[in-house]
Amino acid sequence: MAKTNKQMSDELDKKLDALEYLKDESNYLRGTIEQGLADPLTGAISDDDTKLLKFHGSYQQDDRDLRDERRKQKLEPAYSFMIRVRLPGGTATPEQWIAMDDISNNYANHTLKLTTRQTFQFHGILKRNLKTSMKKINESVLDTIAACGDVNRNTMCNPNPYQSHIHKEINDYATQISDHLLPKTNAYHEIWLDGEKVLDSSEEIEPMYGKKYLPRKFKIGIALPPSNDIDVYSQDIGLIGIVEDGTLIGFNVTIGGGMGMTHGNTDTYPQVGRLAGFVPKGKVVDVCEKILTIQRDYGNRENRKNARFKYTVDRLGVDKVVEELNTRLGWDIEDARDFEFEHNGDRLGWIEGDEGVWNYTLFIQNGRVKDTEDYQLKTALRKIAETHTGDFRLSPNQNLIIANVTPEKKEEIQNLIDQYGLTDGKNYTGLRRNSMACVAFPTCGLAMAESERYLPSLISKIEDLLDEAGVNDEEITIRMTGCPNGCARPALAEIAFIGKAPGKYNMYLGGGFKGERLNKLYKENIGEQEILESLRPILMDYGKERLEGERFGDFVIRSGVVAKVHGGQDFHS
Ligand code: HEM
Ligand code: SF4
Repeated sequence: MAKTNKQMSDELDKKLDALEYLKDESNYLRGTIEQGLADPLTGAISDDDTKLLKFHGSYQQDDRDLRDERRKQKLEPAYSFMIRVRLPGGTATPEQWIAMDDISNNYANHTLKLTTRQTFQFHGILKRNLKTSMKKINESVLDTIAACGDVNRNTMCNPNPYQSHIHKEINDYATQISDHLLPKTNAYHEIWLDGEKVLDSSEEIEPMYGKKYLPRKFKIGIALPPSNDIDVYSQDIGLIGIVEDGTLIGFNVTIGGGMGMTHGNTDTYPQVGRLAGFVPKGKVVDVCEKILTIQRDYGNRENRKNARFKYTVDRLGVDKVVEELNTRLGWDIEDARDFEFEHNGDRLGWIEGDEGVWNYTLFIQNGRVKDTEDYQLKTALRKIAETHTGDFRLSPNQNLIIANVTPEKKEEIQNLIDQYGLTDGKNYTGLRRNSMACVAFPTCGLAMAESERYLPSLISKIEDLLDEAGVNDEEITIRMTGCPNGCARPALAEIAFIGKAPGKYNMYLGGGFKGERLNKLYKENIGEQEILESLRPILMDYGKERLEGERFGDFVIRSGVVAKVHGGQDFHS
């Protein structure tokens, strides 16, 4: 698939997206961020710098609850910054937990968000505190490099509470992949950590990325069957661990998954990753690098809406991408091995790992760690961190595993769980246990409707229907996002809501419980009453007519409520 001179000169003639020029001219992601931070006259930085800032792991935002009032008062919006940590596999030490807790108290809005990609997010950080917050994160031996932006993002990994030795190994691969695919620019150290300035930055090289980095964000995740908790099919590169006789031998590789789309633009669609083949474990880092460079070279740089790897794979075809991958590797990847997923949720409560340690998965609604009058979750987790000798694992479903608890420590941790009334969610319905919502209002600038602040109350109302239908123990995945970007992976849920306007959502049904199938639009632009009215007869039928063990997502297809979606290209048809 080498390019001809004609192809290359055609490409030079094409008008690239404005961000491509910005990246190219940013002096390897420096822009004027440093000057912007020093300007005391505004709580914001320049538009161009906000785009570059993402590559450093931060988004500029403003409090949308206050927007109108501030406009009336002729004040600039209430700007603040979100910081996203890079935490491969979502694993943190108790000391790191305490450091994150301190940062959230001292510089952010006193909450921590555990994200759907297994990392910490801070909200509400004022410009004057941004650099100190970054420094504090780095002092805790974590960083935020490439947590956002057109680069490889936080690498996900199954947090496996069962097989401790395999968890260690795959988590280590997640870290190796993340470290290997980091941008090499010194800009991060210069801007945030007072690193020495590299005078002639043109000598700096980004051997993997080049000056324009990738056409769009890039995501990698490692699943370990039977759990598809990381939603392997939503990743640009999905890795499925293959274990034989208790030993990890390698990974099946999927390519070209992704969640985002734009309302009303059928050229954009969520897509599931396709199986490309199997690779031995020792080669997996190189395989990820080579796939990433294929996207770097063939991804669409003219239109960001069609720039994700999923569109590149769809345009070239899986076979061509594999052929190119084999050429770049210098050897051929093998045929995919057999595997089977059973679910994409978390296993809650205490589970004994295979090395005699215990793991407790705590249910955290939408991943928001905060104290309220009747639920002191944040304080409780700090107390646990102060005594815990194992580690914490952020789950891909926004929950938290208190992991590697020794038998001697188990009682002490359990006492704290009891003292603060923490819940593993087993007393909740199967719907609430399998729910996820993105942040949306008030911080996300792209939100069209509420998500995290609204889904819990909508679920309470749907639970009344579940009671009536007699299915409140059934596990059903439900996800909501405030816009179609898809940060909570809604397109894979059995029931999903994607925000259109305040109080209005598109409702989708029929995703696969194992995260293997996209859902289908059922009703457009509906409010709460219509949501409940539409769901009621379907849930009642499910209660009466479901087959033994039949999942809700499968039932709505079998009973003709929605058509089955085979892949992104028939998502809109
Ligand atoms: C054009 C596409 C997208 C844009 C512009 C975008 C932008 C954003 C922004 C601004 C936030 C911060 C919201 C806040 O914390 O206030 C966010 C959160 C997040 N996004 Fe995206 N996003 C996009 C697509 C996606 C997709 C497809 C995924 C993964 C499937 C994803 C994963 C996340 C995660 C994990 C968070 C953290 C919040 C959470 O867990 O609820 N994003 N995104
Ligand atoms: S899905 Fe949309 S509203 Fe939700 S966090 Fe992502 S960008 Fe914001």
